[in-house]
Amino acid sequence: MAESSDQASLDRTDAHAAAQASNSAIWRNSAARYGRVAMALHWLTALLILAAFPLGLIANAWPYETTAQFALKANLFSVHKTLGIAAFFAALARILWALTQRRPVPLHPGRKVERFMAEAVHWSLYLAMVIVPLSGWMHHAATTGFAPILWPLGQDLPLVPQSPDFAEAAGAVHWLFTRILAASVLLHVGGALKHHLLDRDDTLRRMLPGSRVTFCASEHPGGRTGHAGFAHAGALAAFVIAFLAIALAPALLSRDAPVQVAQAADGASVSDQPVTGGPSWRVEEGRLGFDVTQMGDTVSGSFADWRAEIIYDPQAPATRRGSVAVTIAVDSLSLGSVTSQAKGADFLDVENHPRARFEATIRETDDGHVADGMLSLAGAQVPVSLPFRLRRDGDRASADGVVRVDRRDFGIGESHTDESAVGFGVDIIVSLDAVRVR
Ligand code: HEM
Ligand code: HEM
Repeated sequence: MAESSDQASLDRTDAHAAAQASNSAIWRNSAARYGRVAMALHWLTALLILAAFPLGLIANAWPYETTAQFALKANLFSVHKTLGIAAFFAALARILWALTQRRPVPLHPGRKVERFMAEAVHWSLYLAMVIVPLSGWMHHAATTGFAPILWPLGQDLPLVPQSPDFAEAAGAVHWLFTRILAASVLLHVGGALKHHLLDRDDTLRRMLPGSRVTFCASEHPGGRTGHAGFAHAGALAAFVIAFLAIALAPALLSRDAPVQVAQAADGASVSDQPVTGGPSWRVEEGRLGFDVTQMGDTVSGSFADWRAEIIYDPQAPATRRGSVAVTIAVDSLSLGSVTSQAKGADFLDVENHPRARFEATIRETDDGHVADGMLSLAGAQVPVSLPFRLRRDGDRASADGVVRVDRRDFGIGESHTDESAVGFGVDIIVSLDAVRVR
């Protein structure tokens, strides 16, 4: 591109001044180069992202057959998530800082296509460095327990529901944008190296602390580049869009979480033998779940498909007020991000033991009620006494109970002998509302 001699000398004077300013210790961006804050945030973000990325791949591929492998996998994920969150906040700081700064002038204003490509890659990087960690964080917040973020600030996110569908959608966004991030970083680094090694210009040097910027050509001497105002507004817009997209996408993509109540009430796919001989009660609403400690965190699981046959007669002798038979489709378990592992051969072994059943008689004590019976689970039968609180109002009743069992009594997770990885005690939790039907 031809330049007038006046313009050229103006450029040189300005470029000289800009270079002088930039070579002294400065914190803000100048026409000639990035300031120290921008540089520090650029390299910090890059470092965190480049560390989190391979860790994500490794953690994902890590086997979890044994307790040791499982514990290491969880730790790899915890470090991955923690570095990823640090990258998120570094990226946030970087974007906010960039909004207050001018941008160094283009080194080759005439190379329109190259500039466009560099800008496009920058946008893609900005977008991905927000969406990737945020979607990962949403995936994490929508599941329970597995591999906590290593910080004291809690594990949940506001507006993010505990839902396997939401988690899956957020996971898909995370996967897609890690690929977009990887492609953008490759193009970006390729561009930076091309400038440094082939063009031998200051592109890389002006992002490196301490290196001298020797020449800076400008089509916008001094002041802000017109392009910068547009770019900053664009950065803000991209940031807001990214936030909205990431907040809404999983919610839009995810189907409604299974409605446990309806399935519990009609027990569509669970068949069992009715209990006879007394007033019968139908479950209208209920939750059947359990809490187990995993890597020091409480993980809550629940079954979507179960059916309870209840006979209860308040007039019957206290030692035998009624009976209950609960049948559970074990495959309907959801247990955060470790659902499929829990269903596997080492734990509930759904393939060989698709049904669990609890048959018990109900007695009333001074403290409340107790269901004494046998729990058949994962091929083992263990006597269990479930104390529960019963509230009755005419033909309606509600019951809540918790009982702790030891998973080893059922041969569940036998190879996981380290209690700090997967706790031995499992709290089975039942709560239901029922109506009397006859
Ligand atoms: C800049 C930051 C991050 C990068 C570059 C990154 C990258 C990755 C990569 C490459 C994978 C493997 C994906 C695959 O091949 O399936 C992954 C998986 C995962 N990441 Fe991240 N991640 C980041 C931040 C986070 C954060 C902040 C969290 C949570 C707080 C997180 C949670 C996860 C989870 C849970 C998975 C497994 C996903 C699944 O099983 O579907 N990541 N991440
Ligand atoms: C995950 C890694 C990285 C991310 C997310 C990233 C992101 C960015 C972004 C968004 C910009 C634009 C800055 C602005 O206009 O204010 C930028 C500039 C720059 N980055 Fe990176 N970067 C990464 C890694 C690297 C690496 C490894 C190199 C060096 C090989 C590098 C070299 C540069 C250079 C030289 C600039 C200035 C470009 C210019 O003046 O036009 N970046 N980076």
